[in-house]
Parts: sequence; structure tokens; C-alpha cells
Amino acid sequence: MLKTLIVSNRLPLQLNIKNGKVSSSPSVGGLATGLKSVHKESNGLWIGWNGLIQEDVDSQLVNTVEKVVKEQQCASVTLSKDDFDGFYYGFSNHTIWPMFHYFMEYAKFSNDYWESYKRVNEKFAQVVLENLEEGDTVWIHDYQLMLLPQLIKEKRPDVSVGFFLHIPFPSFEVFRTIPWREQILNGLLGADLIGFHTYDYERHFLSSVSRILGYATSFNSITLADRVVTVDSFPMGIDYEKFSSFAKANQQQTDTTQSELQRRLYHHQEETPEAKMILSIDRLDYTKGIANRIKAYERFLEKYPEYIEKVRLVMLAVPSRSNVKQYKRLKKEIDELVGRINGKFATVSWTPIWYFYRSMPFTNLIDLYTSCEVALITPIRDGMNLVAKEYVACRTDQTGVLILSEMAGAAKEMNEALLINPNDMELIADTIKEAIEMPVSEQKKRNKYMQSRLKRYNVEKWAEDFMNKLKSIKRTEELVKTK
Ligand code: ADP
Ligand code: G6P
Repeated sequence: MLKTLIVSNRLPLQLNIKNGKVSSSPSVGGLATGLKSVHKESNGLWIGWNGLIQEDVDSQLVNTVEKVVKEQQCASVTLSKDDFDGFYYGFSNHTIWPMFHYFMEYAKFSNDYWESYKRVNEKFAQVVLENLEEGDTVWIHDYQLMLLPQLIKEKRPDVSVGFFLHIPFPSFEVFRTIPWREQILNGLLGADLIGFHTYDYERHFLSSVSRILGYATSFNSITLADRVVTVDSFPMGIDYEKFSSFAKANQQQTDTTQSELQRRLYHHQEETPEAKMILSIDRLDYTKGIANRIKAYERFLEKYPEYIEKVRLVMLAVPSRSNVKQYKRLKKEIDELVGRINGKFATVSWTPIWYFYRSMPFTNLIDLYTSCEVALITPIRDGMNLVAKEYVACRTDQTGVLILSEMAGAAKEMNEALLINPNDMELIADTIKEAIEMPVSEQKKRNKYMQSRLKRYNVEKWAEDFMNKLKSIKRTEELVKTK
């Protein structure tokens, strides 16, 4: 049977080994959570890294690891400690991630990183080629695997290859400063279809291709010597039904079935019904604007002291890439900021910020989405931001206010949110006040529009659009060949 191979650096499951036992937990991040539902529906195979370092896996456990991975319709690419340092922490997260998010000063250009990136992309290619059968389609995801489309196309020109970038593609002026810019572009151009979240990212990519490689580009195609590559934007959606049905079930919990977190959140509402909770959820990443967000909240408390004891910032920061210098520094900065603000404003009966630095189970995420009246999402740059969409999907009674950064891809589709510039502290402080005071009728009006859009263009539709486009490219190619 024809199948689709999904390929991404991270599999949807993260394996752990403790006391000789293998366990798995779901991966965090937009790519993994978004594609999971697509994968479940298909009979395909998902190829990627399972979260373990090769040297840490005892030879006796190798088979158990593969069994766990296989049970979930996945196949592993194994990464050694060296691969992990050079490819994952190095080129992917210390070069490409900062460059593509406009944090140029954080980027490190290292030839060792680059060599490791090439080597690991080749490892992925090998596993893909081993699993590929005639007529299969390959759908590659994200910035860790930008050389893979070319590596597959060179060996299997008959195979349909799609690539989707889950982060922004930067402007030509930024991209051109990367020493390996030609190789990266050529790597991507191995795909038949390249997708981005927004039209802006697509335009930036086309401009880099024409100015760096000199290929002729049109509105959404690139003409190479022997074939044409299609480029398009596909804003990624969420599994709307899953979030809204979990949110409905969550609200029907009784005293005895409530989670501890839910109990505490509701207790807060019962104790001080006029008090509001403001939600903040992200991986702990400098692109997410967490420090600015806390400072803006501080400004809000200074500027509008009548809200002291009447609001609470509930902040979940999920640990991420903690071996990279800038992430370590950020963790320290956030700890200090939270400590300082809690110290400055707390009263005997109130803490202004509830801060959780950990990964939480899915049901706790739903607890947070359903119980906070405001979501404050202020990335400095973000390819899409699925948390914003998940929050709105969980507001089943249509109350709740989303404050969203203009710099997130999601802002393009969520005009009814209160859009802010994440660097403008005064504006964020004022917008928090506006959100808290927004009449319920206005909240419902805004959420109604956003919900109907999110419901229609959900993650399934997103994947279907991408795959249909890829199929139609293949059909056109075959037609041209037979002429
Ligand atoms: P990014 O991809 O940069 O991390 P997004 O907002 O696009 O940012 O996606 C984050 C995803 O991670 C969301 O789908 C969210 O539900 C998920 N997520 C966040 N925290 C957790 C958690 N503790 N456990 C599982 N999934 C989580
Ligand atoms: C973003 C990236 C994904 C990545 C995720 C989590 O969503 O686009 O490719 O998987 O962050 O980051 P991590 O480094 O933990 O895989």
C-alpha cells in the first residue's frame, strides 16, 4: 500500500530509560503536537530521533527501544553524543534557530557544526531510503533537515518530496549572512513543494533563491535547470475538536475527579471571584518574549495598582534546549524576574506570579486554558504559535481574551485578538487592562469569529491541502513527461 513517510528531527514520542526500563512521553512543540493527529489517521511511517543518545542505550535495550517506537508507527534515527552536540545543539539550535528568528547576535557560525549537520542529514536520508517503496511520498519537516530533500531527490528522482518549514524564513538581508546559504537553499530545492506558515516567509525565501542562486522565480514557483519547484503558504491549524472536547469534559469534572491543579485554579476563582488569571505558556525560549512579558506585567501592576490582589499571572515555562548558553542565561533571568516581582508586590494572601518550570500532562494544559480569563502571548518572533490557537479553541463558552504578538505567524489569521508589539511595554500593560475589562459580549463576538476559522482550517485540512498540492504537482509532471 502506498504510504506517506513523515520525517522530522523529533518523533512525537520522547523515550526515557530509567533503571533499565524504557518509557515514553509525548514530545512538546508545535511540530510534534500538530502532526500527531495527521499521523494517527494515515497508515504512514514517522521517521525521526527518539530522544535517546546512542551511548546511553545499553545494547540489551536496543530491541526494546525499537519495539516501543515501532508500536507507534515510527522508526528511529539514532544520534550519538557528538551528533547531538554538533547537529542538534550546534547547527540547528545555535546557528539556524537564532538566525531565522532574527537573533543574529546569538548565532554561532562553526564549521564543525556544519559538518555535523551534513552528516546527520545523511543519516536521516539513509533511514528514509531504507523504508521507501515505489510510489511513496516523503514529507520532511523543519529547519533541522534542510539538506534532506536534495539527498532524497538525488537518489530517488521518482519520489514526490514535500518540505514544510515550521519557523519563519528570514529576510534576504539576514539569510545572506549565513556562510552555507547556497548549500541550504540547494538542499531545500530538492523538494517538489516547499511550504511556509505565511506569505511573508514564502516571499523571503523566493527572494533569497533568486538573489543568491540566480534562478528565475515567479509568484510561487522556481524554475531549475531540469524541473520546477512550487512554493506556497499553508498556515498550520490545530486539532480543534480534540481541544474543544477536552475542554468541555474538563468543565464537567466534579470535586472528586478534578486534578490538583484544577482544584487550585478553581479555588482561586471561588475565593476571589472578581480576580482574573492571565495565562502564559511556552517552551523556555528567548524568541517567546517571556522576560518582556513579565516586565510588562510589572508595569501593569505599577500603573494600575487597583488590580493588586485582583490578577494573577499563571506562567508555565517548559524546559527546552537547556545546554545552549542563551537558554541557560534566560532561565536565570526569568527566575530572577519572577522572584523580584513576587517579592515586590506580594501580600500575605496573594502572589502576583505562579511560575511552573516543567512539562505538564496534556490534561493540565487544558486546565490552564479553560480557567484563565486572559492569555498573554508575546513572542518576539514565532513561526506560527499554536498555543494561541489552542487557548481560543478551549474557550467553549466563548469568553476569554487573547493578547497576541504581531510577530507571531498566528496573528495573520487572528485579527480579533488584541494584537500588540512585544517590545512596547506600555502598550502591553494597557492592553492587559483592556483585556481584563473587556465586556463579555465583546469577548464572545471576537472568539466566535476566531473559533469558526480555527474549526474550518484545522490541522487535518492543513495537511490535506499540502498533500493535495503535492499530488497535483506529481500529476502535472507525469502529464508533461508523457507528452
Ligand atoms: P513551539 O513550537 O515553538 O514550541 P507552539 O506554540 O507553536 O510553539 O507549540 C507548542 C506546542 O507544545 C503546543 O501544541 C502545546 O500544546 C504543546 N505543549 C506546551 N506545553 C506542553 C506540555 N507541557 N506538554 C505537552 N505539550 C505541550
Ligand atoms: C519548534 C520547532 C520544532 C521543535 C520544537 C521543540 O516547534 O519548530 O522543530 O521540535 O520547537 O524543540 P526541540 O528542540 O525540543 O525539538
